[in-house]
Amino acid sequence: MARKFFVGGNWKCNGTTEEVKKIVSTLNEGQVPPPDVVEVVVSPPFVFLPLVKNLLRPDFHVAAQNCWVKKGGAFTGEVSAEMLVNLGIPWVILGHSERRLILNETNEFVGEKVAYALSKGLKVIACVGETLEQRESGTTVEVVAAQTKAIAERVSNWADVVLAYEPVWAIGTGKVATPAQAQEVHFELRKWFHANISPEVAATIRIIYGGSVNGANSKELAAQPDVDGFLVGGASLKPEFIDIIKSAE
Ligand code: G3H
Repeated sequence: MARKFFVGGNWKCNGTTEEVKKIVSTLNEGQVPPPDVVEVVVSPPFVFLPLVKNLLRPDFHVAAQNCWVKKGGAFTGEVSAEMLVNLGIPWVILGHSERRLILNETNEFVGEKVAYALSKGLKVIACVGETLEQRESGTTVEVVAAQTKAIAERVSNWADVVLAYEPVWAIGTGKVATPAQAQEVHFELRKWFHANISPEVAATIRIIYGGSVNGANSKELAAQPDVDGFLVGGASLKPEFIDIIKSAE
């Protein structure tokens, strides 16, 4: 089964109501390949999710940028998976490096979040990736395998998971991984799934790349055999996001 190209736009902690409306209207006017060729999911901050969901073209979908690790309750400041389901939000991004590093989310905690979100019917963009220090010490594959393993220990159905490989050193830095660097890690992750989960999951799971993707570098990255799409930060707030979506073709 061919893997459908996936492009996610992570708006992170950006935007006002007016700016969000402007981004959505640019997306709504964009000429992009049809939904059987590319799946597009944009992830505004929580407070804008209902607005974006209501205004966005029907062939694009929305994702939350996080959710709580279990059922809601006395967890001040958190948003539960149940609430996202209740609002009709189909996707959630979990394990982004900004949460792992700034908010100290461990591999195990991320694994538990992924499992809980899936159990409530959400689809998950699960992020993994190494720091510059880890890359330079030669532990990239070990690091992303350990992050993936912590998810795998808690998840058995991979059909609703997209794995985002995002090297921390490439995020927001303008220092994109070369197509060869991205392909190498994506290949190793697929090999890991083959050896540790199943050949079927290895063949079907979408592994997308994130880290300084833009309209100028997306085409070459998309041409790599194990790169199944992108998780885009900064450029997803700009009209060039449409060019990135077009790299699916
Ligand atoms: O989730 C998206 C990534 O953190 C990439 O961000 O495209 O701004 O480097 P960036």
